[in-house]
Amino acid sequence: MVPLPTRRATIRLARAVAAALVPGDLVILAGDLGAGKTFFTRALCRALGVPASEPITSPTFTLVHEHEARLPIAHADLYRVGDEDELAQLGLRDRRGEGAVLVVEWGAPYAAALGGDALSVTFEVAADGTRRARLEAGGARASALLAAVTGAGRP
Ligand SMILES: Nc1ncnc2c1ncn2[C@@H]1O[C@H](COP(=O)(O)OP(=O)(O)O)[C@@H](O)[C@H]1O
Ligand SMILES: [Mg+2]
Repeated sequence: MVPLPTRRATIRLARAVAAALVPGDLVILAGDLGAGKTFFTRALCRALGVPASEPITSPTFTLVHEHEARLPIAHADLYRVGDEDELAQLGLRDRRGEGAVLVVEWGAPYAAALGGDALSVTFEVAADGTRRARLEAGGARASALLAAVTGAGRP
């Protein structure tokens, strides 16, 4: 568990993840509306070098936003995706194969369909407002990524 008492703590976690990413990595973001998935993605994109002039917003209706930085980033929000056929039409798995990093809000149900081996970050907000993130690795590459993130010190 990573405590996220401040926005800055979330930015630190995002920077630690960004520093360890390699082409084709899959990062799945879970947690309720307002838990911080887009906030985390914005910080991660900034850490990868997406300029501040380029807005990082929730792709709630467009479903996928592409950003170009140290690595190509495909930022998706699958809240409105109904099944794996709809998902396939977004071409995310292909983008991953081409070397894009996938950062996927509401992606937990589709981890396998996106090729598996995901680093999952679940944002939790307790009733008293306390925020934290749970990090889990879904495969060998994600385990290495997780080790790099936690090994980076207080992520
Ligand atoms: N420690 C924190 N980490 C992330 N966001 C926080 C934190 N504290 C407050 N917030 C606020 O919570 C909101 C999270 O919204 P957002 O990232 O859009 O959520 P989601 O994408 O999960 O629906 C933002 O307005 C952000 O400023
Ligand atoms: Mg969001």
